[in-house]
Amino acid sequence: MFPDRKRRSGDETTPIFLTCPQSHFPSSMILHCNRSLAYIWPIKISHAMDIDAVDRYIETNRGRFLDELTELLRIPSISADPAYGKDVARTAELLGSRLEEIGVEQVEICPTDGHPIVYGEKIKDPSLPTVLVYGHYDVQPPDPLELWDSPPFEPVIKDGKIFARGACDDKGQMYSHVKAVELMLRNDLLPCNVKFMIEGEEEVGSENLGIFVKQNRERLKADLVLISDTAMIANDVPSITVGLRGLSYIEVEVTGPKRDLHSGIYGGAVANPINVLCDMMSSLQDGSGRITVPGFYDSVNEVSAEDREELAKAPFNPDAYKADLQIDDVQGEKGYSTTERSTIRPSLDLNGIWGGYTGEGAKTVLPSKAFAKLSCRLVPGQDPDRITELVSAHLVSIAPPSVRVKVTPHHGGDPYLTPTDFIGYRAAHRAMETTFGKEPIPIRGGGSIPIVALFEQELGLKSVLMGFGLDSDAIHSPNEHYGVFNYLKGIQTIPFFYKYLAEAHA
Ligand code: BES
Ligand code: MN
Ligand code: MN
Repeated sequence: MFPDRKRRSGDETTPIFLTCPQSHFPSSMILHCNRSLAYIWPIKISHAMDIDAVDRYIETNRGRFLDELTELLRIPSISADPAYGKDVARTAELLGSRLEEIGVEQVEICPTDGHPIVYGEKIKDPSLPTVLVYGHYDVQPPDPLELWDSPPFEPVIKDGKIFARGACDDKGQMYSHVKAVELMLRNDLLPCNVKFMIEGEEEVGSENLGIFVKQNRERLKADLVLISDTAMIANDVPSITVGLRGLSYIEVEVTGPKRDLHSGIYGGAVANPINVLCDMMSSLQDGSGRITVPGFYDSVNEVSAEDREELAKAPFNPDAYKADLQIDDVQGEKGYSTTERSTIRPSLDLNGIWGGYTGEGAKTVLPSKAFAKLSCRLVPGQDPDRITELVSAHLVSIAPPSVRVKVTPHHGGDPYLTPTDFIGYRAAHRAMETTFGKEPIPIRGGGSIPIVALFEQELGLKSVLMGFGLDSDAIHSPNEHYGVFNYLKGIQTIPFFYKYLAEAHA
């Protein structure tokens, strides 16, 4: 039954069940088999985490690791759409079972006013450092569906990549933590305490997680937060995200005449809300790419020349960037590079604009209303509420007297910076250096994970953003994917993070 059970000297660290030919068993049986084997042959295991032992475990369990992720990806846990509430809940349940199966304790599917939070912990020894793993199991809506090459919730592996909504953001990245902890627990290699907090509302603003965090300060006590929900520069250029942008999100409604009008009878004489909205929106940026909202840049913490120089060391290929997006040129604020424009500088974008007739054929109408959704990405120093106020007041002030403007703020979030001189960052740096064979580069990320700033405010915890995705993984887009390499690299690297953290702590 265990043909390749060899014992070499120095191999004492490998429990026998690692060599169980798992392909003969469905995954549920392997776990059972593992447990009983561990019980029958309680082998003395040392705590030496070496890369060979880690790699062996990953290689042996590779197929199951992929199957389990696939199972998770099959559930359409779309947090934004209430029609998928049951699927979101089902995903939380599945994740909870997976945590229990690997030996995580106190597993709880914590209900909220929205989608549940999956919590679980393994406390080895209160004197050891505690890692709070945060991730999200919810995903963005998959539309436009017609642009997917294969259905978003029927994962396929093609060219070494898993294609599915959520493959990278964040089920794949999050689940590599579950499997890395499995690896450590099964081999008695876990050198820290670990707490999992996986939410189902990241893609809709994490409002209920904010409440949960405030209500569970004691339970969430930890030394730091570890998150994989960001990207690296390339598979052979490891990097660690040391900054996230904040977010201010606003919906604008422009109302003109009380009803839709015949554009022949009234066109030219009455303000058209769509035309007015377009004028207003295009005035928000000037010819040099600066945002024109008064006060918008007032509190921006400018990045020093030295820091800009440091960040510019990260390799960037403008031609590959343009080719990937099929654009002939880039655009943005004068005086800054493409990387800077999308990371250390704030930005303002329309996310949607609608109104009037958009159906088949032509309908001559001067609509009563027009709408837009716009987002501002914010950098350290900028306060999302303040920016929302400034943008809202500016929009009202520039509206012509021929229309009325209503502004509705949506969820926002603070920007975040990880210090590079704290033990969490250094542990991540050493871990990536070990498994990639080269030093990771600190980079600033352009996206937002609003809850990260709250971890600092409410729990006093810094977050390490050790992501394994790539910008080209098409997150939030059709054909989202995640490299099998990246998924397994996460599982391989995470145990070393724990190892180096424990060593630094000792
Ligand atoms: N994982 C992303 C954030 C991200 C992606 C950060 C890549 C850095 C690099 C996250 O799931 C996300 O999409 N966040 C939203 C924020 C939100 C409030 C919906 C975002 O950035 O738009
Ligand atoms: Mn994410
Ligand atoms: Mn996302």
